[in-house]
Amino acid sequence: MFTDNALVTKTDNQITILAIETSCDETAAAVVSDGKLIRSSIVASQTALHEKYGGVVPEIASRAHVENIYPVISAALEQANVSKEQIDAVAVANQPGLAIALMVGVTAAKTLAFAWGKPLIAINHVHAHLQSALLEAESLELPAVALIVSGGHTNLYEARTPLDLTLLGRTIDDAAGEAFDKVAAILGLPYPGGPHIEKAARQGNPKAIRFPRSLMQKDSLDFSFSGLKTAVLYHCRGQDMKGQNRVAAMSEQEIADIAASFQAAVIDVLVRKTKRAARKFGAKSVLTGGGVACNNALRQAMEAMCRKEHYKLLVAPKRYCTDNAVMIGSLAYYKYKANQFAALDLEPSATA
Ligand code: KG4
Ligand code: ZN
Repeated sequence: MFTDNALVTKTDNQITILAIETSCDETAAAVVSDGKLIRSSIVASQTALHEKYGGVVPEIASRAHVENIYPVISAALEQANVSKEQIDAVAVANQPGLAIALMVGVTAAKTLAFAWGKPLIAINHVHAHLQSALLEAESLELPAVALIVSGGHTNLYEARTPLDLTLLGRTIDDAAGEAFDKVAAILGLPYPGGPHIEKAARQGNPKAIRFPRSLMQKDSLDFSFSGLKTAVLYHCRGQDMKGQNRVAAMSEQEIADIAASFQAAVIDVLVRKTKRAARKFGAKSVLTGGGVACNNALRQAMEAMCRKEHYKLLVAPKRYCTDNAVMIGSLAYYKYKANQFAALDLEPSATA
């Protein structure tokens, strides 16, 4: 569990939102004022529970959310030092994600909104990831394109306002984070794989193996990572898949070279597609967020591309790249201002 310190003192004309996030394997709550002022952020991670299964088990995630939700919300309110009277609305991620995980946050949010007599705000989790890139931004020059890269999504958007997003492209198979997690499993590295691949890649040569870059048709802004994952699998086990034990016999350097070459292929595609979108839409700014945006090599490659092309790059602070409720509370502010409230019969939805 990590926490933030309350940064500001409440004044009456601020819009203060209690935000809840339970879309996958983090139970999170935050109190955010005016979309940017982070009064509290509590994240209870379930990584330890899912690690031994090599991925998130929905039933286990849902049960852990039920156990964590009350202490996490209480801690967020306590840390922010606000009473329920000072909360203007309750926001919750209700899509996309694991339905039985989302259900826990949605039920908690509806209960609080009803009991406190506050409006309820429904948030799209992936759109909220984009908001993390704006938390520390002084201003945003438009038009902007946004790359959201997480365990469940790889989406490119044209962003005109926080509420006005057009989906330009998405993965047609694995998400970028999912590819990191699956390749880590192939290499015998722990779950979640992204940070472990990044660590191994630091010792490796990104040019050791030329893994395929799937750019698909010339103008496509969609992504595909399953071919790359299969290429890594064949490299490790042989075309006939009989070399099951080759990874166990590999040296650390060989593993590092595969990790670095795989990471380079993913980043190459992510950056080239983002550049393609930014050029097409005459972007002034490029935004990046989501768990994979923690990756330093990706951050550096995006920086280099944006410097060369003269785009202003806004990358989410690392601690708000992975799932959190601050981003939910931040986006909810704009929905509050636009009077976009949800009814108390709000349902979770696995898809967006
Ligand atoms: O945004 P997030 O916390 O959850 C989803 O909404 O999916 O993203 C989690 C994903 C995992 O697949 C994880 O392996 C990946 O983000 N990730 C990374 C890094 N840190 C987390 N991928 C690459 N490099 C990293 N340093
Ligand atoms: Zn996420």
